[in-house]
Amino acid sequence: MKVLILNDPEAAIERAGDIVSGAVRARPRTVLGLATGGTMLPLYDDLVARHDAGLLSFAGATTFNLDEYVGLAPDHPCSYHRYMRQAFFDRVDLDRARTHLPRGDVADPQGEAEDYERRITEAGGIDLQILGIGRNGHIGFNEPTASLGSRTRIKTLTDDTRRANQRYFSSFEETPRYAITIGVATILDARATLLLATGEAKAEAVARMVEGPLSAACPASALQLHPNATIVLDAGAASSL
Ligand code: GLP
Repeated sequence: MKVLILNDPEAAIERAGDIVSGAVRARPRTVLGLATGGTMLPLYDDLVARHDAGLLSFAGATTFNLDEYVGLAPDHPCSYHRYMRQAFFDRVDLDRARTHLPRGDVADPQGEAEDYERRITEAGGIDLQILGIGRNGHIGFNEPTASLGSRTRIKTLTDDTRRANQRYFSSFEETPRYAITIGVATILDARATLLLATGEAKAEAVARMVEGPLSAACPASALQLHPNATIVLDAGAASSL
């Protein structure tokens, strides 16, 4: 694990942007694994700014997002489909036919999950998987106790995660209980991973990921096994290391 600690969130975002840009420039037909969440919004802004300045093109890239809520249609205001369109897809030169997210509103979510895993394999696997981290150590929606050998499937969200994500919904009750998420093993298959965490609220999860035992109790600790994992932190997120 390469752990990079930057002074402030802005510097952490810029460094993460450098890493993503470097990967896309080195391989224009790159397959990017994308993440959602508040942490990622400034990273997408950074990538869009590089794109708008003519420094970066996503025209040849393929993308696979980590996860989607079960039950939400792509045009639901709180869906990750909608998030991705607003934060990134509609703002850069990506070919929309090569952007992928699991569909949360299908009759057979398990079948959709298996199909999604197959699509990642058919695309040749993920070159760079971008990740955030949940306060409880989740990556994607692989909540604590997720098998380290897991593949894309349905996960039940913990109350802690639902409370953290409640701010996007009208109430706790409205916050979805299930998500389709790529698995821990799917994430470990990526040729490189980049986890970005900012702010003190993530400090404890970051410490468990980097310094704790390898354990399904902290799914992000599985990144200790990855030969090419980079963790980019600001001082707040690094404060318990
Ligand atoms: C969600 C996403 C994760 C993300 C996490 C942290 O649960 N499924 O991929 O890492 O939120 O989000 P935030 O950046 O808003 O703290």
